[in-house]
Amino acid sequence: MADVTIHRGLKDIYLDRTKSSYIDGKNGKLYYRGFNINELANNSTFEEVSYLLIHGELPNKSELAEITSWMACAREIPSEIITLIDSIKHLHPMDMLRTIISALAAFDNNLADESMDANIERGLSITAKAPSIVAAHVRLRNGDKYIPPNPNLSHAANFLYMLNGREPDLLDAKLIDKDLILHAEHGLNASSFTARVVASTQSDMYSALTAGIAALKGPAHGGAAEGVMKQAQDIGDESNTVEYVKNLLSSGGRIMGFGHRVYKTADPRALILKVDAKSLSERKGNPRWFSILQSLAECMKPYEKKGICENVDFWTGAIYNLLEIPDDIFVSIFALARIPGWTAQVTEQLNNNILIRPLLDYVGELDKPYIAIEERK
Ligand code: CMC
Repeated sequence: MADVTIHRGLKDIYLDRTKSSYIDGKNGKLYYRGFNINELANNSTFEEVSYLLIHGELPNKSELAEITSWMACAREIPSEIITLIDSIKHLHPMDMLRTIISALAAFDNNLADESMDANIERGLSITAKAPSIVAAHVRLRNGDKYIPPNPNLSHAANFLYMLNGREPDLLDAKLIDKDLILHAEHGLNASSFTARVVASTQSDMYSALTAGIAALKGPAHGGAAEGVMKQAQDIGDESNTVEYVKNLLSSGGRIMGFGHRVYKTADPRALILKVDAKSLSERKGNPRWFSILQSLAECMKPYEKKGICENVDFWTGAIYNLLEIPDDIFVSIFALARIPGWTAQVTEQLNNNILIRPLLDYVGELDKPYIAIEERK
């Protein structure tokens, strides 16, 4: 109605300034706090990257030792939470996670403290607990016993241990660690935006992170890895890929794990994970999924010139599958990796807060006659 420019989906709109991460979508580069993602993925641990994102600088040796052991201690979840997980174990893992992260507020003895330090501690504590929650759910719904966290293992290794009940292979644990690093932060994606909107109303950390999880759940955002694996299973054999892609695209469908709002060239995270997916397939002696995905990527080559390339989720599904992780927790793994990123952005928002409140252009009618209920048809 008004003479305004509508930016549907807020495409290409800058909301604010950030120092958390930089996505160079044209050149396919990603930086956390100024550090190239390739360097972090190859040299860091998830604990170190969590510190970097939340505190803004890489930790020194003693700071890293301190954060690593603090997070290991914070993995424990209250017995009431385990009982609650058990009572909602029929839910999808993301619905369960959304509910439980919200419920954790009930066990925060410092809830009234809304200082920056308290919020940072909350973000790190939830980062530490999230894998315990996801693993507890998988075990309880399978009729298995909850396995308490092992403080002697890394964050990533402990997650696999709590899922499977055995200490993981070092290479498997390192791969999950790298995968968590690669998912930890990513500009103003839909879930970080959602978390910022909640924080901007001066709500609280639990609400902001719960909202972030809710936004991440959808297939257009975090849910794609599960979709990629489903597509690979539907294709079944490389010889079917061309036909599958033709049918899906001609009926208006989308190839999961392809396309991105910001990258118009290869997603650097996908390039790293492709190499890992290949070597993991060889190591596990199971090349099937990698071959099918490779044939899918080959079929999608003509779309590269339209900027539709592999995104971070394209190879993760195959990696999780080869590590025998259930398909329906793929998006939960994305969520537990993204908590430090959400925390960094929520604290950034709170440091220079302004209520996020855009406008809608009203295009409905005005001054319609009000008809009494008895006279309405
Ligand atoms: N398969 C086929 N065509 C596609 C795809 C795809 N995966 N993605 C985009 N397109 C086409 C789309 O049909 C449209 O074509 P046209 O202009 O002819 O109508 C054009 O590309 C632009 O699409 P769009 O939906 O306007 O682009 P967007 O920036 O809003 O979409 C996206 C980004 C991620 C929602 C979309 O690429 C998509 O649905 N991908 C599949 C789901 C997926 O892999 N999601 C994970 C995203 S990465 C994880 C994260 O960071 O959240």
